[in-house]
Amino acid sequence: MPYDASLNFVFWSPTKIVFGEKTALDVAMEMETLKCKKALIVTDKDLAKNTDIPEKIKKALGNLCVGIFSDVEADSGIHIVNQGGKLGQELGADCLVSVGGGSAIDTAKGIAIILKEGGELQDYVGFQVLTRPQTPHIVIPTTAGTGSEVTYLAVIKDHQEGRKLLFGDYNILPNVAILDPKMTEGLPPRLTAATGMDAMCHAIEALHSLQREPMADGLAFHAIRLIKEFLPRAVENGGDIVARGQMLIAACIAGAAFSNAQVGMVHALAHSIGAKFGVPHGIANSIFLPHCILYNLDACVDRYSEIAQAMGKDIRGMEPLKAAEQAAIAIAEFTKSIGMPQTLREVDVDESGLEECAMDALMDGSIVYNPKLVFDPEEILKVYKNAF
Ligand SMILES: [Fe+2]
Repeated sequence: MPYDASLNFVFWSPTKIVFGEKTALDVAMEMETLKCKKALIVTDKDLAKNTDIPEKIKKALGNLCVGIFSDVEADSGIHIVNQGGKLGQELGADCLVSVGGGSAIDTAKGIAIILKEGGELQDYVGFQVLTRPQTPHIVIPTTAGTGSEVTYLAVIKDHQEGRKLLFGDYNILPNVAILDPKMTEGLPPRLTAATGMDAMCHAIEALHSLQREPMADGLAFHAIRLIKEFLPRAVENGGDIVARGQMLIAACIAGAAFSNAQVGMVHALAHSIGAKFGVPHGIANSIFLPHCILYNLDACVDRYSEIAQAMGKDIRGMEPLKAAEQAAIAIAEFTKSIGMPQTLREVDVDESGLEECAMDALMDGSIVYNPKLVFDPEEILKVYKNAF
């Protein structure tokens, strides 16, 4: 798609990326570079209970580790972040090492605020509220999907109010992300597929966003090609270390792309269906992606044609709209090939709740960047019904 020469943009991705097998074991070196002496490891219950990963990181940190906070659950809540903040204060932590998926990383972003600013996390809800760099934070992802290691966002649930709170601030961008394929080796196939499709959605939504920009474009197109090639391999054989590594790179660069270009209606629809029916984020995204491409089709003809090509489709000689449509077809074929559910019905969504979800999706912060502006909940409801 040719760019308007007057297009203004900002691209901001300062996180240091370290990639390679067993690089997580060099975490102490990264802490020393940050001039930190007391790390609190933040990880989730499941990893602490069922794997030796947090212990390995603790060992690698040696006497630089002051404790492990392992109370993080899926959809981490504000009370969990406040507890972690309290523990970090008691232990005098001056650095966070998050080990896990999006939930552990976002929890650590919240704890980083409490350790620096004091008080409770709910005091800092919103965008660009903070005025200075927060507690240093090293991320070791154990999934390849959220890209949270390079985003300025943290999503934390307010379980009392039953809603997700958004924290968006350049000051909570992690300092270092260590992408070690050994850390994602144990991720089961379904989770590998779902988190990988979250990354695919980040890439495609960054490309169709109203705030799309050339720096993010380059990263997003490369992410799509990597996911197309390596996600099926990682799903098929979790021990395929090359595929695991390339998926970590794909998720990371897709994260950097959307942290700058934003996402759109796929995420808006997934957020509300996730909140109401508990459909995991990656699975919901994966179901909605082809339907949202079709909804946006005439607004993004060139862009979706390019995406179809990145997905391996031969669009030569096709009418422009037909060529663009190939993007939706390619995604549906791809998600089917990696065993993802295709409809909301398959993931136990009750059709009678879709109307309410459509209203919520219209209020979601992501919808404003969708390439086709959406004002009418009926429009969203149609997409939900198509996906049902
Ligand atoms: Fe996402």
